[in-house]
Amino acid sequence: MSKILVNSSGPLHGEVNISGAKNSVLPLLAATILTDQTCIIEGVPDLVDVNVMKKMLTNYGSEIDDSEPGVIRTQMKEVKSCEGDAELVQEMRASVFTMGPMLARYGKVIMPLPGGCTIGKRPIDLHLKGFRALGADVLEDIENERVVVTTGPDGIRGDAIYLDFPSVGATENIMMAATLAEGTTIIENAAKEPEIIDLANLLNKMGARIKYAGTDMIRIEGVKKLSGCIHAVIPDRIETGTFMLAAAITRGDILIKNALPGHVRPIIAKLKECNVSVELLPEGIYVDARNEDLIATDIKTLPYPGFPTDIQSPFMAFLTTVKGKSVVRETVFENRFMHVVELNRMGADITVTNREAVVPGGKTLKGARVRATDLRAGAAMVLAGLVATGTTEISEIYHIERGYEDLVSKFKALGADIMKIEHD
Ligand code: EPZ
Repeated sequence: MSKILVNSSGPLHGEVNISGAKNSVLPLLAATILTDQTCIIEGVPDLVDVNVMKKMLTNYGSEIDDSEPGVIRTQMKEVKSCEGDAELVQEMRASVFTMGPMLARYGKVIMPLPGGCTIGKRPIDLHLKGFRALGADVLEDIENERVVVTTGPDGIRGDAIYLDFPSVGATENIMMAATLAEGTTIIENAAKEPEIIDLANLLNKMGARIKYAGTDMIRIEGVKKLSGCIHAVIPDRIETGTFMLAAAITRGDILIKNALPGHVRPIIAKLKECNVSVELLPEGIYVDARNEDLIATDIKTLPYPGFPTDIQSPFMAFLTTVKGKSVVRETVFENRFMHVVELNRMGADITVTNREAVVPGGKTLKGARVRATDLRAGAAMVLAGLVATGTTEISEIYHIERGYEDLVSKFKALGADIMKIEHD
């Protein structure tokens, strides 16, 4: 099992190029199911999750050419199977994002229920509520741990759907299904993440008629058919935030290129509250934390445009090193403090009550053997290891490789003393 070793690295300095967004490229690839023509997706990051999605599409019947780095050419001339692969779904929850497109294209999809993961139960009830509202028949086959969704003879018909929670995946799944519905669909209390807008832009390039993506009320007017398209993935705002925090925690300075400041406003605001300098330059976002009088702040995660839950653990790692007490509230997932145990192994002394963590701050972390408890917590462990005394050994790093392209080499280029070791 491979691991990442991180030694105390001193202030990081230099520039980093942000890759395409994992949480955008996955629904974008799912959307290519909706047409029998060729779609070209550019700016694709080299991630384990992208490989899983490619396998999902191939199993359904897509022909994929990924011979050019960063580019995926895919065409589903005809659907060969409507059954999601159980192992792939267990490996990646985002596999369920193929349900809406399969329902719209083929009229049937059989999906193994995604396992919960360390950050919570992660049900798909809102996805299924949306499919039912569009006229589909949803059979939850608990015995076989799968769900079978089929449309009636008249296919999918538009309707109004209210999401009890602005779920990113449910919004994306329903939006994709609704593109080929008979009539108009309104999604109320929709998620407003930039990835929703990126998906709507791709779908509209394919001939869909989607309006108001990025607001809490999205309108989709169904069309008969969608065509192929060429589309470049937006940069990854969570990777952007991770490297902003790398500058902050090491008291260094990093120029973050190919990033969209408009997608990371909560992170910019919170770092400025801590006296970290953040400048928006033509070349990119310049984060300078070389001054020593940083101060603590509180964070509360919320659906976009609130503070992103995916940056909660990296930001917490940073707060352990800043003088003063901070309170971190996690409102999106019910169990996203698994990294606290790991940070406490390094001397962070954090206490958790329900969805609130109190970070005393002002700590000098000690290197330790820690686990990556989820994708973003793994990144938080790397950040903590950069400033901890001695060596930090991070296991279960497959989580990290699911969502960060070339993480070790990007950190090395900034001066980090970091390496990946293969363990038998
Ligand atoms: C997306 O997951 C992201 N993944 C997550 O990123 C991100 O943390 C999350 O959105 C929130 O921003 C991808 O886009 C591939 P949700 P998703 O549906 O769609 C509850 C990362 O590290 N819920 O918005 O699964 C759910 O349990 C990953 O890159 C229901 O109750 O998130 C959670 O508490 C982690 N019923 C909350 O909503 C449902 O049907 C938010 O989930 C669906 C969700």
